[in-house]
Amino acid sequence: MSLFNKHKIIEKSPTLLLVGSLLVVSVGGLVEIAPLFYFQNTIEKVEGMRPYTPLELAGRNIYIREGCYLCHSQMIRPFRDEVERYGQYSLAAESMYDHPFQWGSKRTGPDLARVGGRYSNDWHVQHLTDPRSLVPESIMPKYGFLTKTPLKFEDMDKHLRANQLVGVPYTSEQLINAKADVIAQATTDADIDGLEARYTYDDRFSVPIGDFDGNPDKITEMDALVAYLQMLGTLVDFSTYVPEANYR
Ligand code: HEC
Repeated sequence: MSLFNKHKIIEKSPTLLLVGSLLVVSVGGLVEIAPLFYFQNTIEKVEGMRPYTPLELAGRNIYIREGCYLCHSQMIRPFRDEVERYGQYSLAAESMYDHPFQWGSKRTGPDLARVGGRYSNDWHVQHLTDPRSLVPESIMPKYGFLTKTPLKFEDMDKHLRANQLVGVPYTSEQLINAKADVIAQATTDADIDGLEARYTYDDRFSVPIGDFDGNPDKITEMDALVAYLQMLGTLVDFSTYVPEANYR
């Protein structure tokens, strides 16, 4: 009798098949899961990752509220075509402060994981207000109302606190100053020393500040969304990045 004929015995008995399947699945499970208990951390540490500033976090909330993730992913896969189009593939550490993460599963529009710094603030405002004025064949909806909607940020400390509860290492000082930090990042003449001290990773990095929406009189939802987009993919310093031995 060949091995295939013997297999018939298992296939004909539901109990044997069940026991056999459980055995195979547990061996597979052990091989995959057991090593994880010996790693201190499965996320490689990289230079530059920091929690989002309150303004960026507010922008991220708008990104989620408006469903941008339904058309845009934020995850560059480690394939040559993706890396050539979008840049360095995404690292786990780059979404370590994302709750929930925005990897997405649909690309009606391009991936946004490294869109930060690719265009000017003005370009983003114009594009979000009327995508077809810049990209005639675009099917992206218009979001011009964001320029007219004042940003609600009285409760930003609570948003930071919620993230802190799920593991983002916001300090109590960052919580207390959440509102002031929104103003400092979104206006051009504000004192930014506190903001920089609280959010820069170290001296090599800076927090982009400015009047993101082109209207210096008001802090709008557009300010927050553009601040968020301009930060995407820019936090890690890839000029000094060396993959850890374990992951090479
Ligand atoms: C119905 C699908 C759809 C939705 C929803 C959508 N977009 Fe887009 N987006 C696109 C398409 C298609 C493009 C490519 C054409 C263009 O540039 O307009 C695009 C392009 C972009 C670009 C330029 C990317 C690049 O690298 O050139 C940015 C930035 C962007 N979208 C941001 C957003 C934001 C922020 C939101 C939510 C407020 C959003 N999109 C919602 C479809 C969408």
